[in-house]
Amino acid sequence: MAAEIWSETEEFLSGLLCPPDPDLARTVHVSEQADLPAINISALQGKQLSLLAKMAGARRILEVGSLAGYSALWLAKALPPDGRMVTIENNPVHAVVAADNIRAAGLADRVEVRVGNAAEQLALLVAEQADPFDFFFIDADQHNNVTYFEGCLRLSRPGSVIVFDNAVRSGEVRNLETSNGAVRATQRVLELVSGSDRVDGVVFQTVGRRGHDGMLVVRVR
Ligand code: DHB
Ligand code: MG
Repeated sequence: MAAEIWSETEEFLSGLLCPPDPDLARTVHVSEQADLPAINISALQGKQLSLLAKMAGARRILEVGSLAGYSALWLAKALPPDGRMVTIENNPVHAVVAADNIRAAGLADRVEVRVGNAAEQLALLVAEQADPFDFFFIDADQHNNVTYFEGCLRLSRPGSVIVFDNAVRSGEVRNLETSNGAVRATQRVLELVSGSDRVDGVVFQTVGRRGHDGMLVVRVR
């Protein structure tokens, strides 16, 4: 019953607040055709990320976990015309699909898809002395979220925003005895945020078609 209300409410709000976008629709369609896992964020979450990035004045965005490029498109469209985005994808098939979708949306000049292990790619960006990023979205293999957090912090500046998807996992995040390694990594990131004087953070809980989850939003002081 509750789940039905969540998904109907999500549909209602998306219909009002997320105007149809052919690039996003194509990305969802291509992702289904290519049989990629249907674990992309929702339209409402895409809009949430887009507004957060705009409110943060983001000109440089880094994403960990491109999948088919759905969230990358939302974020790239939130950039000013001279903005830049890097999205990292470990799966070479997914990376090709993401790059195709970004190209089809006319955003290839703004978005670079980097293929490879995200921990290595983050270390490479640090070694390249990349300019700091203003906004990060981490939505990949959650077991490595502590490594991704540390890498992103190294690539941040005061005021940068770091967002983690899947921070709640049907409330499993509150189970300190969980055997789920993905949730344990998220718990560790939450501990780091909680005990840090370098960052501040909060979780936005969400419900919708895919159930109960949330995004951890961190701001670098
Ligand atoms: C899964 C991963 C995600 O990033 C997500 O948003 C939902 C589910 C998963 O691996 O099950
Ligand atoms: Mg996710």
